[in-house]
Amino acid sequence: MARSSITITDNRTGESFDIPIENGGVSAEIWRKHLKGIWFFDEALMTTAACESAVTYLDGDAGILRYRGYPIEQLAEQSTYLEVAYLLIHGELPTPEQHQEWVKDITYHTFIHENVRKRFLEGFHYDAHPMGMLVSAVAALSTFYLDAKEIHDSDCRKRQIVRLIAKMPTLAAAAHRFSVGQPFVYPDNSLSFAANFLSMMWKIAEPRYDANPALARALDVLFILHADHEQNCGTTAMRTVGSAHADPYSAAAAACAALYGPRHGGANEAVIKMLNHIGSMENVGSFIDGVKAGKGRLQGFGHRVYRNYDPRAKIIKRTAEEVFEITGKNPLLDIALKLEEVALSDDYFVSRKLYPNVDFYSGLIYQAIGFPIEMFTVLFAIPRTAGWLAHWVELLDQDQRIIRPRQLYIGAQERHYVPLDQRP
Ligand code: CMC
Repeated sequence: MARSSITITDNRTGESFDIPIENGGVSAEIWRKHLKGIWFFDEALMTTAACESAVTYLDGDAGILRYRGYPIEQLAEQSTYLEVAYLLIHGELPTPEQHQEWVKDITYHTFIHENVRKRFLEGFHYDAHPMGMLVSAVAALSTFYLDAKEIHDSDCRKRQIVRLIAKMPTLAAAAHRFSVGQPFVYPDNSLSFAANFLSMMWKIAEPRYDANPALARALDVLFILHADHEQNCGTTAMRTVGSAHADPYSAAAAACAALYGPRHGGANEAVIKMLNHIGSMENVGSFIDGVKAGKGRLQGFGHRVYRNYDPRAKIIKRTAEEVFEITGKNPLLDIALKLEEVALSDDYFVSRKLYPNVDFYSGLIYQAIGFPIEMFTVLFAIPRTAGWLAHWVELLDQDQRIIRPRQLYIGAQERHYVPLDQRP
């Protein structure tokens, strides 16, 4: 018997078999062979590794996050979002030549087809949520790039990757401008990725919009922190739809839709609403009592994987201080700090290992930079596109089978149809 293995005995037959433990997991293939028709019941896939991945390493107990082996702290400190996107997708940091070509490619694909904006985005109701617009616009791109279906052609794949990463900020800003009734701003290819996004968001009549470089850098750091997070709900949606060999725009739209949910990327918006609802420091205690009594959750706290301080939240807290030096302090910061202090010394949160996650402070920064709260999840979707694509490429390279889980059926047994006029 291999030392690093699990022995399973089927008490119905007395048969035993070993399953080796490899890379921290046990193969379901051996289980399937010996125990035909017996399925794992693993609601929400809490105990299931559904793929092998080399993109992101996460140790939730130790609070470690690495992209392709590089600690998130080093990337946030020294890299840029576009370099990180390259790293996630290609597996290695680019050489100077590769970096130059990559940045140029992304920069020159930032424009969207006029029909996407004029006929499609402008067709939404005037008060449409920008995230709903983004989900639909990403899906609509698949109708503009028919070659996207050629997912096994590497040049074609590369084209879609560049297009998606490049066009996300343009679509995001277009959704915002429409929702506030302002004219669309075309991309400015002389600006960096983050600065160009800020220009498309806020340029009015000036010939060139030069964002405060420190704010553009803070946004770029937030983009780095949000670029990937292994098999979260959105990435799992990307991998699931991708495994059916749908084009990458359709798969990314599914991922965006998952991200929209308040349990996932929608939490940053929920945090600000919660802080506004609490209103002042004096109300923090009674709010926490309400959470403990089951009246809602403390938004921006807790994580399926982290049972320790989310390393991204630490960096974001620091970035927030740098941003507030320029913009002035967000008045909600004091309530957030008090909430964190009270929660982290309360047994309810300590015993459940609930710590601030990435969304707890990010909304405060977005708000201080001037983004409306409806844009917060959109700001998450822009960089997460790189992670989604890295996983999409990986699953295609691995020739992964279509994702198709089993179920435990708990419904009615066979019964006979009763015509409508004979039902009691
Ligand atoms: N406030 C109060 N109690 C909580 C919270 C919270 N934010 N999160 C978890 N709990 C409690 C929960 O009630 C349960 O208690 P009990 O054992 O007594 O029933 C226990 O902690 C375990 O919670 P769970 O729901 O089993 O945990 P989960 O892993 O299924 O959910 C989560 C993870 C992120 C959905 C959840 O922590 C949550 O709803 N947090 C608030 C929303 C949020 O901040 N989401 C952003 C996540 S990070 C970014 C991203 O993924 O996009």
